[in-house]
Amino acid sequence: MLFRRWLAGCTVVKPETGGKAQMTNVQGLHRQELHEALNDAVLEGMTATTGEAKGLPNAAFTDSAFLELERKHLFSRTWVFAGSRSAVSEPGAVRCLEVAGRQLFMATDAKGETRVWFNVCPHRGARLVVEDQDKAAVLTCPYHGWSFGLDGGLRARPHYHAPLEHDRQGSKAERDCLFEVRSAIWHDWVFVNIDGQAPAFEDYMAPAMKAYEDWNLGALRLAHYQPFEFHANWKLVVENFCDNYHVFMVHPALHDAQEPRDRFGMSPDGVHMFNRFVIGVEGRGLTPDPDGPTLPEIPDLPDALEKDSPFCNLFPNATMAIFPTNVAFFSFEPVTVDETIMHVWFYFAGDAAHDEEHRAGREAVIAEWANLNAEDSGICHRLQEGRTCDAYDGGRFAPYWDAGTLHFHRQIADAIRGEGAFLR
Ligand code: FES
Ligand SMILES: [Fe+2]
Repeated sequence: MLFRRWLAGCTVVKPETGGKAQMTNVQGLHRQELHEALNDAVLEGMTATTGEAKGLPNAAFTDSAFLELERKHLFSRTWVFAGSRSAVSEPGAVRCLEVAGRQLFMATDAKGETRVWFNVCPHRGARLVVEDQDKAAVLTCPYHGWSFGLDGGLRARPHYHAPLEHDRQGSKAERDCLFEVRSAIWHDWVFVNIDGQAPAFEDYMAPAMKAYEDWNLGALRLAHYQPFEFHANWKLVVENFCDNYHVFMVHPALHDAQEPRDRFGMSPDGVHMFNRFVIGVEGRGLTPDPDGPTLPEIPDLPDALEKDSPFCNLFPNATMAIFPTNVAFFSFEPVTVDETIMHVWFYFAGDAAHDEEHRAGREAVIAEWANLNAEDSGICHRLQEGRTCDAYDGGRFAPYWDAGTLHFHRQIADAIRGEGAFLR
Protein backbone atom coordinates (compact mmCIF):
# COMPACT_ATOMS: atom_id res chain seq x y z
CA MET A 1 0.00 0.00 0.00
CA LEU A 2 2.91 2.32 0.36
CA PHE A 3 5.08 2.85 -2.64
CA ARG A 4 3.75 1.33 -5.75
CA ARG A 5 4.45 4.66 -7.42
CA TRP A 6 8.14 4.18 -6.71
CA LEU A 7 8.05 1.15 -8.97
CA ALA A 8 7.52 3.16 -12.15
CA GLY A 9 10.33 2.29 -14.53
CA CYS A 10 11.79 -0.33 -12.19
CA THR A 11 12.01 -4.05 -12.66
CA VAL A 12 10.55 -5.74 -9.64
CA VAL A 13 12.64 -8.68 -8.54
CA LYS A 14 10.32 -11.65 -8.23
CA PRO A 15 11.04 -14.67 -6.10
CA GLU A 16 12.49 -17.63 -7.93
CA THR A 17 10.77 -20.21 -5.83
CA GLY A 18 7.23 -20.64 -4.64
CA GLY A 19 4.07 -19.57 -6.42
CA LYS A 20 1.67 -16.98 -5.23
CA ALA A 21 0.42 -17.99 -1.84
CA GLN A 22 -3.25 -18.95 -1.69
CA MET A 23 -3.31 -18.98 2.04
CA THR A 24 -6.17 -16.71 2.92
CA ASN A 25 -8.58 -18.55 5.19
CA VAL A 26 -11.33 -20.03 3.09
CA GLN A 27 -14.04 -18.95 5.44
CA GLY A 28 -12.50 -15.60 6.24
CA LEU A 29 -12.98 -13.95 9.55
CA HIS A 30 -15.29 -11.03 10.11
CA ARG A 31 -14.10 -8.15 12.19
CA GLN A 32 -15.98 -9.35 15.21
CA GLU A 33 -14.30 -12.72 14.88
CA LEU A 34 -10.94 -11.06 14.45
CA HIS A 35 -11.36 -9.53 17.83
CA GLU A 36 -12.06 -13.04 19.04
CA ALA A 37 -8.85 -14.17 17.34
CA LEU A 38 -7.10 -11.69 19.61
CA ASN A 39 -8.95 -13.05 22.60
CA ASP A 40 -7.81 -12.87 26.19
CA ALA A 41 -6.04 -16.23 26.03
CA VAL A 42 -4.04 -15.14 22.99
CA LEU A 43 -3.18 -11.80 24.56
CA GLU A 44 -2.22 -13.50 27.80
CA GLY A 45 0.04 -15.83 25.83
CA MET A 46 1.89 -12.83 24.51
CA THR A 47 2.57 -11.43 27.97
CA ALA A 48 4.59 -14.44 29.13
CA THR A 49 8.38 -14.50 29.14
CA THR A 50 9.97 -14.97 25.74
CA GLY A 51 10.61 -18.67 26.25
CA GLU A 52 7.02 -19.31 27.37
CA ALA A 53 5.11 -16.86 25.18
CA LYS A 54 3.08 -17.42 22.03
CA GLY A 55 2.60 -14.93 19.24
CA LEU A 56 -0.12 -13.62 16.98
CA PRO A 57 -2.69 -16.15 15.71
CA ASN A 58 -2.66 -17.39 12.11
CA ALA A 59 -5.50 -15.04 11.15
CA ALA A 60 -3.16 -12.09 11.63
CA PHE A 61 -1.14 -13.37 8.66
CA THR A 62 -3.83 -14.88 6.45
CA ASP A 63 -7.04 -12.92 6.75
CA SER A 64 -7.47 -9.81 4.63
CA ALA A 65 -9.84 -8.37 7.21
CA PHE A 66 -6.91 -8.28 9.62
CA LEU A 67 -4.93 -6.21 7.12
CA GLU A 68 -7.87 -3.81 6.93
CA LEU A 69 -7.74 -3.47 10.69
CA GLU A 70 -4.02 -2.84 10.53
CA ARG A 71 -4.58 -0.08 7.98
CA LYS A 72 -7.22 1.51 10.14
CA HIS A 73 -5.75 1.08 13.61
CA LEU A 74 -2.01 0.85 12.98
CA PHE A 75 -0.80 2.44 9.74
CA SER A 76 -3.21 5.37 10.01
CA ARG A 77 -2.36 6.14 13.61
CA THR A 78 1.37 5.80 14.07
CA TRP A 79 4.28 7.39 12.21
CA VAL A 80 4.91 5.50 8.98
CA PHE A 81 7.80 5.85 6.55
CA ALA A 82 6.50 7.47 3.36
CA GLY A 83 9.45 7.90 1.00
CA SER A 84 12.89 9.22 0.22
CA ARG A 85 13.21 12.99 0.16
CA SER A 86 15.82 12.60 -2.57
CA ALA A 87 12.91 11.86 -4.91
CA VAL A 88 11.65 15.43 -4.46
CA SER A 89 14.91 17.24 -3.82
CA GLU A 90 14.23 19.91 -6.49
CA PRO A 91 11.48 22.55 -6.24
CA GLY A 92 8.52 21.54 -8.39
CA ALA A 93 8.95 17.80 -7.78
CA VAL A 94 5.76 15.87 -7.01
CA ARG A 95 5.57 12.16 -6.13
CA CYS A 96 2.36 10.19 -5.58
CA LEU A 97 2.24 7.93 -2.53
CA GLU A 98 -0.18 5.51 -0.96
CA VAL A 99 -0.11 5.00 2.80
CA ALA A 100 -2.66 2.98 4.77
CA GLY A 101 -4.82 2.85 1.64
CA ARG A 102 -4.86 6.66 1.38
CA GLN A 103 -3.79 8.51 -1.75
CA LEU A 104 -1.18 11.14 -0.86
CA PHE A 105 1.51 13.07 -2.63
CA MET A 106 4.83 14.55 -1.54
CA ALA A 107 5.97 17.82 -3.11
CA THR A 108 8.71 20.42 -2.77
CA ASP A 109 7.65 24.03 -3.20
CA ALA A 110 9.56 26.98 -4.63
CA LYS A 111 11.16 27.69 -1.26
CA GLY A 112 12.51 24.15 -1.12
CA GLU A 113 10.12 23.00 1.59
CA THR A 114 8.93 19.41 1.29
CA ARG A 115 5.50 18.52 2.59
CA VAL A 116 2.95 15.74 2.16
CA TRP A 117 -0.67 16.30 1.12
CA PHE A 118 -3.82 14.24 0.80
CA ASN A 119 -4.25 13.70 -2.93
CA VAL A 120 -7.72 15.24 -3.19
CA CYS A 121 -9.15 18.51 -4.43
CA PRO A 122 -10.98 20.36 -1.64
CA HIS A 123 -13.76 21.42 -4.04
CA ARG A 124 -15.68 18.27 -4.96
CA GLY A 125 -13.09 15.72 -4.00
CA ALA A 126 -11.48 14.60 -7.25
CA ARG A 127 -8.09 12.97 -6.96
CA LEU A 128 -5.74 15.82 -7.81
CA VAL A 129 -2.51 14.19 -9.02
CA VAL A 130 -2.15 10.96 -10.99
CA GLU A 131 1.40 11.25 -12.31
CA ASP A 132 4.72 12.17 -10.76
CA GLN A 133 6.05 15.50 -11.93
CA ASP A 134 9.50 17.11 -11.84
CA LYS A 135 8.79 20.77 -12.55
CA ALA A 136 5.24 21.53 -11.49
CA ALA A 137 4.44 25.18 -10.80
CA VAL A 138 0.81 24.53 -9.92
CA LEU A 139 -1.43 21.49 -9.71
CA THR A 140 -4.68 21.86 -11.64
CA CYS A 141 -7.68 19.75 -10.78
CA PRO A 142 -9.04 17.94 -13.87
CA TYR A 143 -12.70 18.38 -12.85
CA HIS A 144 -13.36 22.15 -12.65
CA GLY A 145 -9.87 23.53 -13.03
CA TRP A 146 -9.09 24.87 -9.58
CA SER A 147 -5.33 25.21 -9.28
CA PHE A 148 -3.06 24.95 -6.27
CA GLY A 149 0.55 25.85 -5.52
CA LEU A 150 2.94 23.28 -4.11
CA ASP A 151 2.66 25.16 -0.84
CA GLY A 152 -0.97 23.94 -0.76
CA GLY A 153 -2.52 27.36 -1.40
CA LEU A 154 -5.40 27.93 -3.83
CA ARG A 155 -4.18 29.91 -6.86
CA ALA A 156 -7.22 30.35 -9.12
CA ARG A 157 -10.76 29.12 -9.87
CA PRO A 158 -11.99 29.43 -13.47
CA HIS A 159 -15.66 30.47 -13.94
CA TYR A 160 -15.99 30.55 -10.16
CA HIS A 161 -18.29 33.58 -9.90
CA ALA A 162 -20.25 32.87 -13.10
CA PRO A 163 -19.46 31.78 -16.68
CA LEU A 164 -16.29 33.61 -17.77
CA GLU A 165 -16.07 35.38 -14.40
CA HIS A 166 -12.96 33.84 -12.99
CA ASP A 167 -11.44 34.02 -9.55
CA ARG A 168 -7.88 34.87 -10.51
CA GLN A 169 -6.77 35.80 -7.01
CA GLY A 170 -7.08 32.41 -5.40
CA SER A 171 -7.26 32.32 -1.66
CA LYS A 172 -5.02 32.06 1.34
CA ALA A 173 -7.91 30.93 3.53
CA GLU A 174 -7.17 27.61 5.21
CA ARG A 175 -10.53 26.19 4.13
CA ASP A 176 -9.56 26.59 0.46
CA CYS A 177 -6.10 25.03 0.75
CA LEU A 178 -5.06 21.45 0.15
CA PHE A 179 -5.27 19.14 3.14
CA GLU A 180 -1.83 18.66 4.63
CA VAL A 181 -0.67 15.34 6.08
CA ARG A 182 1.41 15.58 9.25
CA SER A 183 4.94 14.75 8.20
CA ALA A 184 8.50 14.79 9.49
CA ILE A 185 11.86 14.35 7.81
CA TRP A 186 14.84 12.60 9.39
CA HIS A 187 17.88 12.73 7.13
CA ASP A 188 16.59 11.51 3.75
CA TRP A 189 13.52 9.78 5.15
CA VAL A 190 10.03 11.25 5.13
CA PHE A 191 7.51 9.93 7.65
CA VAL A 192 3.79 10.65 7.89
CA ASN A 193 1.16 10.34 10.57
CA ILE A 194 -2.19 10.09 8.79
CA ASP A 195 -4.50 10.85 11.69
CA GLY A 196 -2.27 13.62 13.05
CA GLN A 197 -2.65 12.30 16.60
CA ALA A 198 0.52 10.27 17.17
CA PRO A 199 3.04 11.47 19.76
CA ALA A 200 5.74 13.90 18.65
CA PHE A 201 7.98 12.52 15.90
CA GLU A 202 11.05 13.19 18.05
CA ASP A 203 9.63 10.93 20.75
CA TYR A 204 8.78 8.21 18.25
CA MET A 205 12.24 8.35 16.70
CA ALA A 206 14.26 9.01 19.88
CA PRO A 207 15.62 5.45 20.31
CA ALA A 208 16.91 5.41 16.72
CA MET A 209 18.34 8.90 16.97
CA LYS A 210 20.22 7.85 20.08
CA ALA A 211 21.34 4.50 18.66
CA TYR A 212 22.83 6.21 15.61
CA GLU A 213 24.12 9.43 17.15
CA ASP A 214 27.73 8.43 16.39
CA TRP A 215 26.91 7.68 12.75
CA ASN A 216 27.12 10.63 10.37
CA LEU A 217 23.96 9.70 8.49
CA GLY A 218 23.80 13.20 7.02
CA ALA A 219 26.81 12.32 4.83
CA LEU A 220 24.85 9.62 3.02
CA ARG A 221 23.69 10.08 -0.56
CA LEU A 222 21.08 7.99 -2.35
CA ALA A 223 22.58 5.84 -5.12
CA HIS A 224 19.98 3.26 -6.10
CA TYR A 225 16.43 2.05 -5.51
CA GLN A 226 15.26 -1.55 -5.98
CA PRO A 227 11.93 -3.25 -5.16
CA PHE A 228 11.55 -6.96 -4.35
CA GLU A 229 8.36 -9.00 -4.21
CA PHE A 230 7.64 -11.50 -1.40
CA HIS A 231 4.77 -14.01 -1.33
CA ALA A 232 4.16 -13.55 2.37
CA ASN A 233 2.40 -11.31 4.85
CA TRP A 234 4.30 -8.07 5.51
CA LYS A 235 4.85 -8.95 9.19
CA LEU A 236 6.59 -12.20 8.28
CA VAL A 237 8.97 -10.34 6.00
CA VAL A 238 9.69 -7.77 8.74
CA GLU A 239 10.23 -10.59 11.24
CA ASN A 240 12.57 -12.40 8.90
CA PHE A 241 14.55 -9.26 8.36
CA CYS A 242 15.03 -8.78 12.08
CA ASP A 243 15.95 -12.39 12.69
CA ASN A 244 19.69 -13.07 12.97
CA TYR A 245 18.89 -16.64 14.06
CA HIS A 246 18.17 -17.86 10.50
CA VAL A 247 21.61 -16.84 9.16
CA PHE A 248 22.97 -20.23 10.30
CA MET A 249 20.57 -22.05 7.93
CA VAL A 250 19.45 -19.69 5.19
CA HIS A 251 22.49 -17.58 4.32
CA PRO A 252 25.53 -19.89 3.99
CA ALA A 253 27.85 -17.30 2.44
CA LEU A 254 27.04 -14.70 5.08
CA HIS A 255 27.41 -17.36 7.77
CA ASP A 256 30.87 -18.30 6.52
CA ALA A 257 31.92 -14.66 6.44
CA GLN A 258 30.96 -13.97 10.04
CA GLU A 259 32.08 -15.19 13.38
CA PRO A 260 28.81 -16.73 14.71
CA ARG A 261 29.38 -15.25 18.17
CA ASP A 262 29.43 -11.80 16.59
CA ARG A 263 25.73 -12.17 15.74
CA PHE A 264 23.24 -10.87 18.28
CA GLY A 265 19.53 -11.15 19.07
CA MET A 266 16.97 -8.43 18.47
CA SER A 267 16.03 -6.28 21.43
CA PRO A 268 13.28 -3.70 21.81
CA ASP A 269 13.74 -0.02 22.55
CA GLY A 270 10.66 2.14 22.53
CA VAL A 271 8.40 0.90 19.77
CA HIS A 272 11.34 -0.20 17.64
CA MET A 273 13.67 -3.21 17.58
CA PHE A 274 17.45 -3.14 17.37
CA ASN A 275 20.22 -5.64 16.78
CA ARG A 276 23.71 -5.75 15.40
CA PHE A 277 26.49 -7.95 14.20
CA VAL A 278 30.19 -7.47 13.71
CA ILE A 279 31.38 -7.63 10.11
CA GLY A 280 34.53 -9.51 9.19
CA VAL A 281 36.50 -6.99 7.14
CA GLU A 282 36.67 -3.20 7.27
CA GLY A 283 35.73 -1.16 4.22
CA ARG A 284 33.45 -3.82 2.72
CA GLY A 285 29.75 -3.94 2.15
CA LEU A 286 27.58 -6.66 3.56
CA THR A 287 29.33 -9.93 2.89
CA PRO A 288 33.02 -9.13 3.09
CA ASP A 289 35.09 -10.33 0.16
CA PRO A 290 38.78 -9.82 0.95
CA ASP A 291 39.51 -9.46 -2.75
CA GLY A 292 36.48 -7.34 -3.59
CA PRO A 293 36.21 -3.60 -4.16
CA THR A 294 36.33 -1.27 -1.19
CA LEU A 295 34.19 1.71 -0.35
CA PRO A 296 34.96 4.78 1.78
CA GLU A 297 33.72 4.84 5.32
CA ILE A 298 30.97 7.14 6.44
CA PRO A 299 32.93 10.24 7.58
CA ASP A 300 33.82 10.75 11.26
CA LEU A 301 33.10 7.13 12.18
CA PRO A 302 34.58 6.32 15.59
CA ASP A 303 37.18 3.53 15.54
CA ALA A 304 34.96 1.35 17.71
CA LEU A 305 32.28 1.27 15.00
CA GLU A 306 34.50 0.40 12.04
CA LYS A 307 33.32 -3.21 12.06
CA ASP A 308 29.87 -2.58 13.51
CA SER A 309 26.63 -3.25 11.69
CA PRO A 310 23.60 -2.09 13.68
CA PHE A 311 20.15 -2.86 12.28
CA CYS A 312 16.80 -1.62 13.43
CA ASN A 313 13.15 -1.99 12.57
CA LEU A 314 11.41 1.36 12.80
CA PHE A 315 7.97 0.26 13.87
CA PRO A 316 5.95 -0.78 12.06
CA ASN A 317 7.45 -1.43 8.63
CA ALA A 318 10.73 0.34 7.86
CA THR A 319 14.16 -1.11 8.52
CA MET A 320 17.67 0.29 8.44
CA ALA A 321 20.72 -1.87 7.81
CA ILE A 322 23.77 0.21 8.66
CA PHE A 323 27.34 -0.61 7.68
CA PRO A 324 30.52 1.46 8.00
CA THR A 325 30.45 2.18 4.24
CA ASN A 326 26.76 2.16 3.34
CA VAL A 327 23.18 2.07 4.53
CA ALA A 328 20.29 0.13 3.05
CA PHE A 329 16.88 1.54 3.99
CA PHE A 330 13.95 -0.85 3.59
CA SER A 331 10.20 -0.42 3.59
CA PHE A 332 7.76 -3.34 3.60
CA GLU A 333 4.56 -2.53 1.75
CA PRO A 334 1.55 -4.77 2.39
CA VAL A 335 -0.08 -5.14 -1.03
CA THR A 336 -2.50 -7.85 0.06
CA VAL A 337 -2.55 -9.98 3.20
CA ASP A 338 -0.11 -12.44 1.61
CA GLU A 339 1.84 -10.24 -0.82
CA THR A 340 4.51 -7.75 0.20
CA ILE A 341 6.77 -5.47 -1.76
CA MET A 342 10.05 -4.71 -0.09
CA HIS A 343 11.45 -1.37 -1.29
CA VAL A 344 15.17 -0.80 -0.82
CA TRP A 345 17.06 2.49 -1.04
CA PHE A 346 20.86 2.17 -1.12
CA TYR A 347 23.01 4.96 0.33
CA PHE A 348 26.77 5.50 0.27
CA ALA A 349 29.09 8.10 1.76
CA GLY A 350 29.23 11.36 -0.20
CA ASP A 351 30.62 11.08 -3.73
CA ALA A 352 30.91 7.30 -3.41
CA ALA A 353 27.17 7.23 -4.13
CA HIS A 354 27.76 8.33 -7.72
CA ASP A 355 31.41 8.44 -8.76
CA GLU A 356 32.96 6.00 -11.22
CA GLU A 357 35.73 5.04 -8.84
CA HIS A 358 33.30 3.28 -6.53
CA ARG A 359 30.88 1.83 -9.08
CA ALA A 360 32.15 -1.74 -8.53
CA GLY A 361 31.83 -1.35 -4.76
CA ARG A 362 28.27 -0.09 -5.03
CA GLU A 363 27.32 -2.88 -7.41
CA ALA A 364 28.83 -5.45 -5.06
CA VAL A 365 26.70 -4.21 -2.16
CA ILE A 366 23.54 -4.18 -4.27
CA ALA A 367 24.31 -7.67 -5.63
CA GLU A 368 24.94 -8.98 -2.10
CA TRP A 369 21.49 -7.81 -1.01
CA ALA A 370 19.90 -9.35 -4.12
CA ASN A 371 21.49 -12.70 -3.18
CA LEU A 372 20.34 -12.47 0.42
CA ASN A 373 16.81 -11.53 -0.59
CA ALA A 374 16.65 -14.43 -3.05
CA GLU A 375 17.60 -16.72 -0.17
CA ASP A 376 14.97 -15.11 2.07
CA SER A 377 12.04 -15.08 -0.36
CA GLY A 378 11.55 -18.87 -0.37
CA ILE A 379 11.64 -19.10 3.40
CA CYS A 380 9.18 -16.22 3.77
CA HIS A 381 6.79 -18.05 1.47
CA ARG A 382 7.16 -21.16 3.64
CA LEU A 383 6.33 -19.09 6.72
CA GLN A 384 3.15 -17.99 4.97
CA GLU A 385 2.30 -21.57 3.98
CA GLY A 386 2.82 -22.67 7.58
CA ARG A 387 0.17 -20.24 8.78
CA THR A 388 -2.53 -22.42 7.10
CA CYS A 389 -1.91 -25.15 9.67
CA ASP A 390 -4.60 -24.93 12.31
CA ALA A 391 -2.38 -26.66 14.86
CA TYR A 392 0.08 -23.77 14.74
CA ASP A 393 -0.84 -21.67 17.72
CA GLY A 394 1.30 -18.58 17.57
CA GLY A 395 4.51 -20.56 17.81
CA ARG A 396 7.34 -20.47 20.29
CA PHE A 397 10.11 -17.91 20.73
CA ALA A 398 13.81 -18.57 21.29
CA PRO A 399 14.81 -16.45 24.29
CA TYR A 400 18.18 -15.32 22.94
CA TRP A 401 16.95 -14.44 19.44
CA ASP A 402 13.24 -13.73 19.40
CA ALA A 403 12.52 -11.16 22.12
CA GLY A 404 12.25 -8.46 19.45
CA THR A 405 9.79 -10.48 17.38
CA LEU A 406 7.60 -11.02 20.43
CA HIS A 407 7.72 -7.27 21.14
CA PHE A 408 6.63 -6.67 17.53
CA HIS A 409 3.68 -9.07 17.93
CA ARG A 410 2.61 -7.43 21.16
CA GLN A 411 2.53 -4.03 19.56
CA ILE A 412 0.51 -5.22 16.58
CA ALA A 413 -2.02 -6.75 18.95
CA ASP A 414 -2.13 -3.56 21.00
CA ALA A 415 -2.69 -1.50 17.87
CA ILE A 416 -5.63 -3.60 16.68
CA ARG A 417 -7.16 -3.22 20.10
CA GLY A 418 -6.55 0.52 20.10
CA GLU A 419 -4.04 0.35 22.92
CA GLY A 420 -0.75 0.90 21.12
CA ALA A 421 2.19 2.34 22.99
CA PHE A 422 2.70 4.60 19.98
CA LEU A 423 -0.65 6.28 20.60
CA ARG A 424 -0.89 9.50 22.47
S1 FES B 1 -13.33 18.86 -7.82
FE1 FES B 1 -11.47 19.88 -8.17
S2 FES B 1 -12.04 21.72 -9.14
FE2 FES B 1 -13.92 20.77 -8.71
FE1 LIG C 1 17.64 -13.37 5.75
